[in-house]
Amino acid sequence: MDLASHIRHVPDFPKPGILFYDISTLLAHSDAWRETIDRMAEAIRPMQPDLLAGIESRGFLAAAPLALALGKGFVMVRKRGKLPGRTVSHAYALEYGEDVVEVQEGMIEPGQRVVLVDDLLATGGTASAAVTLLRKVGAEVPGAAFIIELIGLGGRARLDVPTETVLQLE
Ligand code: PRP
Ligand code: MG
Repeated sequence: MDLASHIRHVPDFPKPGILFYDISTLLAHSDAWRETIDRMAEAIRPMQPDLLAGIESRGFLAAAPLALALGKGFVMVRKRGKLPGRTVSHAYALEYGEDVVEVQEGMIEPGQRVVLVDDLLATGGTASAAVTLLRKVGAEVPGAAFIIELIGLGGRARLDVPTETVLQLE
């Protein structure tokens, strides 16, 4: 199946000159979405995860069904201030300012193998921050998986874990 044809291209979003790859149309097509999850599951399985971690918010859309498909637990990596109880945080630099990713304490046991999942690998800033956070709580990160990789933005090179992507787009 041609999964790329199910991604909607939205010019000038969120800013003029940016071409936004919209996964809404992929999610809305149940066969295409199932095929996406099946392909990601087969790429992740050899990484032998104990848990999958999804990055808020679009990463949750893929990570939750993948965790079910693989029979593993699902852990949320969220942006600042969203998770109740005690959390562990990691701040990372953006082009202007900084952002923070967090996980709840106690969700990941030291030494557990946690595969990171997100919808999109662009610059890799978000994913590399999430890998650092997962390691901070003692996880091993045997790999990361994304629906779309924007080749040309160098995200893959910023990640020091094996990286699997379903669609490689310019
Ligand atoms: C987008 C996308 C990835 C990230 C990729 O998330 O879903 O998480 O950016 O960019 P990077 O590789 O340059 O870090 P966004 O922050 O727009 O939020 P959302 O998932 O909540 O829509
Ligand atoms: Mg995101």
